[in-house]
Amino acid sequence: MKSDLLSRELFSEEKPLEEHLRPRRLTEYLGQENVKDQLLVFLEATKKRGDVLDHILLYGPPGLGKTTLAHVVAHELGVGLKVTSGPAIERPIDLLVVLKSLKPNDVLFIDEIHRLRRPIEEILYPAMEDYVFHRVIQKGLAAAAATISIPHFTLIGATTRPGLVAPPLRDRFGIVFRLNFYLPEELREILFRSARILSVDGEKEALSEIASRSRGTPRIANRLLRRVRDFATVSGDGLITLKLARQSLQALNVDAIGLDDVDRRYLEFLIRRFGGGPVGLETLAGALGEDPETLEEICEPYLLQQGFLQRTPRGRTATEVAIRYFEKGLTPMEMNVREVL
Ligand SMILES: Nc1ncnc2c1ncn2[C@@H]1O[C@H](COP(=O)(O)OP(=O)(O)OP(=O)(O)O)[C@@H](O)[C@H]1O
Ligand SMILES: [Mg+2]
Repeated sequence: MKSDLLSRELFSEEKPLEEHLRPRRLTEYLGQENVKDQLLVFLEATKKRGDVLDHILLYGPPGLGKTTLAHVVAHELGVGLKVTSGPAIERPIDLLVVLKSLKPNDVLFIDEIHRLRRPIEEILYPAMEDYVFHRVIQKGLAAAAATISIPHFTLIGATTRPGLVAPPLRDRFGIVFRLNFYLPEELREILFRSARILSVDGEKEALSEIASRSRGTPRIANRLLRRVRDFATVSGDGLITLKLARQSLQALNVDAIGLDDVDRRYLEFLIRRFGGGPVGLETLAGALGEDPETLEEICEPYLLQQGFLQRTPRGRTATEVAIRYFEKGLTPMEMNVREVL
């Protein structure tokens, strides 16, 4: 369980817990200000015109709020939401069934859209552009094509791997949003909200501490809050104090800035085996037994944002900060303080 704690992926048993905390309104969707500012305008314009909202592609690392945002959009528009995923749509008929079930202006959310099969993608194009579905009907040796109308709808596609979305599909999204890691202050706000919903009693500083160890990811922040609450229930009166938060996070083996196993192994290999780099992504991925695209799209963004990693033309290089963090266990913040002193 320890190593799972910082996983960015969602575990099936967590699903109902996440549903419970999932914001429904744009005002409850905290952070991602740039995305929200634009979205507000698009939602307003759509409502004023009584029109259908343009298709939206959402991308970014797991747990940053893509699925949540799709729910928020449907809720704000006052329309229905159908949820499916790339791998779930195996045959053209599966797609037709979903499309036919939509009501006008509904939102269709396709998660992991990069995993749609090519033939399915091709029949999705006319659906996205002209709200029609071309179906080939085999009658003996003769094939006849039928064109079926479908309701106007908004497709929201989500992916953690934008590089794998076929360009013709990507080009059919009028709106493309990239979700970024959250600032600790934003995660703290998210934790205040979650604590309220879960009736958890926590000191401000304690929630800040959890926020700063959540690798910029709301899913991890909410998960750590639930675990720390367990400690508070067992070893105290339920109140999450700063001291208790620190002790429980330490007991849970949560690193001061929330690096997970993959991040730590990445840095360990880069620093120890490759002398801090530069080393090519392919070589590094091979040594780690990971897929290069996964490293590039899921693991590296946070390390880059933390100033641990540089991408140079000659390959990946660990920064001085990364080496000291790794060798001495100091967080970037502690290092800054020491430098100032
Ligand atoms: N902006 C936000 N404000 C408040 N809570 C949020 C926000 N974004 C995400 N969350 C919380 O984090 C949880 C995870 O978010 P979500 O499931 O939307 O992530 P995701 O990007 O779809 O992840 P995945 O790539 O694994 O599908 C949600 O259940 C929600 O409680
Ligand atoms: Mg999701």
